[in-house]
Amino acid sequence: MSRLSRRSFLGLLGVAGAAVAGCGLGSASGQTGEQLTSALPLPKPFRVPLPVPPVAKPMGKDLYQITQRMAQAEILPGVRTPILGYDGIFPGPTIETRRGRPVIVRHRNELHVPTVVHLHGGHTPHEHDGWPLDLVLPVGNTRDWRSGHGLTGDTVEGERDYRYPMDQRAATLWYHDHRMDFTGPAVYRGLAGFHLVRDEIEDALPLPSGDRELPLMICDRAFAEDGSFRYPSLDQEMRSVPGVEDEWMEGVLGDVVLVNGAPWPVHEVDAARYRLRLLNASNARRYRIALTVPNGPDLPLTQIGSDGGLLAAPVRHQAIEMAPAERFDVVVDFSELPVGTEVTMVNGLGSGGTANVMRFTVVRQAADDSRIPDRLAEFERLTPPPGAPVRTFRFTRGRTNDHTGWTINGRPFHPATSLADSRLGEVETWRFVSDVHHPVHVHLDPFQVLRRSGRAPRPYDTGWKDTVDVRPAEVVEVAVRFTDYRGAFVMHCHNLEHEDMAMMATVTVS
Ligand code: C2O
Ligand code: CU
Ligand code: CU
Repeated sequence: MSRLSRRSFLGLLGVAGAAVAGCGLGSASGQTGEQLTSALPLPKPFRVPLPVPPVAKPMGKDLYQITQRMAQAEILPGVRTPILGYDGIFPGPTIETRRGRPVIVRHRNELHVPTVVHLHGGHTPHEHDGWPLDLVLPVGNTRDWRSGHGLTGDTVEGERDYRYPMDQRAATLWYHDHRMDFTGPAVYRGLAGFHLVRDEIEDALPLPSGDRELPLMICDRAFAEDGSFRYPSLDQEMRSVPGVEDEWMEGVLGDVVLVNGAPWPVHEVDAARYRLRLLNASNARRYRIALTVPNGPDLPLTQIGSDGGLLAAPVRHQAIEMAPAERFDVVVDFSELPVGTEVTMVNGLGSGGTANVMRFTVVRQAADDSRIPDRLAEFERLTPPPGAPVRTFRFTRGRTNDHTGWTINGRPFHPATSLADSRLGEVETWRFVSDVHHPVHVHLDPFQVLRRSGRAPRPYDTGWKDTVDVRPAEVVEVAVRFTDYRGAFVMHCHNLEHEDMAMMATVTVS
């Protein structure tokens, strides 16, 4: 299929796509997507040390500046991979913030393509949320980037100040590119980083901290023969970053698992508790994360936080299923293990190389005064009152004549068409109905999972969520409440190929 046909699909507004369930996609493996194979020799797992992204230093009081630029990264040992990077690195620098203390992040675009920055999990007004058409054009841009689909937003050239109120609970957020139709290739090439929010409630807890608190960005990639990231675009030139090819619309999976930008890394740990902030930053891959120990039972993962921050009480998991964009804040206890033990983080939904994620090696005994308290934080349960709006969103493959894409309620994304008009402060029930796997993400405020196909939520649904893994042929009901900011926001599938292929909707809050 040509690029033109994809555009014409995106342009066909109001033509209801026939919902075709199933389509024989690879859901048996727990994945919706197709895997690319790397064309160069891959390293042995657990050899490369785990990198930890540097923490960004403010330029002035609460002002951060990030330059988006191309760079060469050494991801596979001895191989150069061109990336698009925040400050030229992948993952980008970690931005550390405090609740109630607003920050400005000034993004300067020195790439050759427009960008949009979204703070995922941020409680952010419309103007700073990274509306998919609010482009930051490259510095010195002379090209008209708007002619393609004829839609425009609040476009600026060179630089934009994103203002984040940070009026929200302590949580693990992340920032990434969000340009309409081109998010998948841009994130795949490196535009993603952590953004943490801390607060006094969390400070008061005796959780592992310092070197024993690790943000772990997990994602999969494939590599071309020349070392570049392999992505099925119509043009491999990084200068244009075209969208995904139609035949890859199920989702792009790679055969190499990266953690903080390193392939199957290894990290030396004390025999002590560690706090791991897990983020699935993959375009389409889902994981079932477990920690295996030679000749012993798996190490449990004790969850203390979800997408939206601390849980009311810890939840113990033997394994954690993570869809794209979900975060799980967990504590792992290495203290009972003898020095020399190798603990492998595995992926129960992978096979071959993708069955491994990373390894921890216990290298020394150490003192540890951390603890996991039985109670973590206040938790306000959202309960939709009788008569509150119930909205249904069907996430399905859409088909118009011979053109295919993804739709919500039969519609491909059109920014000016709102699929929901919600009132500020009201609790509503939203029902997400799926054909195949769709990780559904809502901007502006987190939500709570009420039911899955009429039954209780899964253990992974606990707490405040902003992304929920909707499995094939499932109905996930969530309680949603928007607060503080009126205006237009988006909700979408966070399988980035689905998102780019129009599985997004505008929500208006008034
Ligand atoms: Cu993580 Cu609308 O995105
Ligand atoms: Cu978001
Ligand atoms: Cu989807």
